[in-house]
Amino acid sequence: MRLFITVLLALSCPFGRSEVLQTFNKCSEFFSEGQVPVIPGILNLNSEHARYKKICQRYSFTSVGSGYTFATLYDTESRIPVFSAYKYTARGDFIRPKIPWMIEPQVMIFTAFFMMPHLSPDPHVVGMTVPYRNQAIHEDYFENRYGVNRGHLFPNCHAADEFTAKSTFTLTNIVPQNIRFNAGGWNRIENETRDTMSTHCYDNNNKVLAHVLTGAIPGKNKLNNRVNIPSYMWTAFCCYNSRERLWVSQAYWALNKQEKNNAAISKKSLQELQQFLSQNLAKNVQLFKNCN
Ligand SMILES: *[C@@H]1O[C@H](CO)[C@@H](O)[C@H](O)[C@H]1NC(C)=O
Repeated sequence: MRLFITVLLALSCPFGRSEVLQTFNKCSEFFSEGQVPVIPGILNLNSEHARYKKICQRYSFTSVGSGYTFATLYDTESRIPVFSAYKYTARGDFIRPKIPWMIEPQVMIFTAFFMMPHLSPDPHVVGMTVPYRNQAIHEDYFENRYGVNRGHLFPNCHAADEFTAKSTFTLTNIVPQNIRFNAGGWNRIENETRDTMSTHCYDNNNKVLAHVLTGAIPGKNKLNNRVNIPSYMWTAFCCYNSRERLWVSQAYWALNKQEKNNAAISKKSLQELQQFLSQNLAKNVQLFKNCN
């Protein structure tokens, strides 16, 4: 009976249709000037990395548009993304989609004859840890000891359309984020960034266009003993302002907790963020080709 129930539960757990690839070439449009960031030791340009998986994200539940919607570098050991990269092209007119959370079958390592245990919804059950060893699943987020919930890196409120917004609901785009910070300080940063991009980022056709990178720095605690709870979150955009003929950027980073008295998180320059990441993530980080 238990097995039957777990099979049903697992079947209700949807999979994305994204692609885990050797390079980001297929979805390079989500990087400014098509150039992926320089993150030595974490992001190898032209080869596969056992720990860090390159995902060209695509939403599964519709045949509309076969296209990718953003890109993610996923850390299979911490079971959280390093960053998601996306284009901001002004917000579409839609409400926050209500859809089930997705996982990526291709991040799993399939081992022969593990078919049934795959289907257990408890990641600690022997066997479950094999297929889901490399990624967070829905059930990991049931633990509430740390006061975190699912925090988007590519937020659905920055998506151009509903299709793209839905594609952000994959757990490969999610980190355990302090609940109050998620709804408070970080949400304010998402709003501020959106407003700045909408007023300062115009491509040569006078359309809003910016490239955004949003990431997390692993911390010390683990949700459900599996999923790293990031110590910091960071974000930066780079765009060309064709009206003023200059490159524009803006950045933020913040501890993964709500600031005292709901204090605002200050804006930083791209250079300051790169310095911060070079000290806390990898040496000599360079996020964008331009904007420096
Ligand atoms: C961010 O903007 C949305 C509207 O787009 C608003 O509902 C929300 O309250 C804002 N968040 C904060 C923290 O100000």
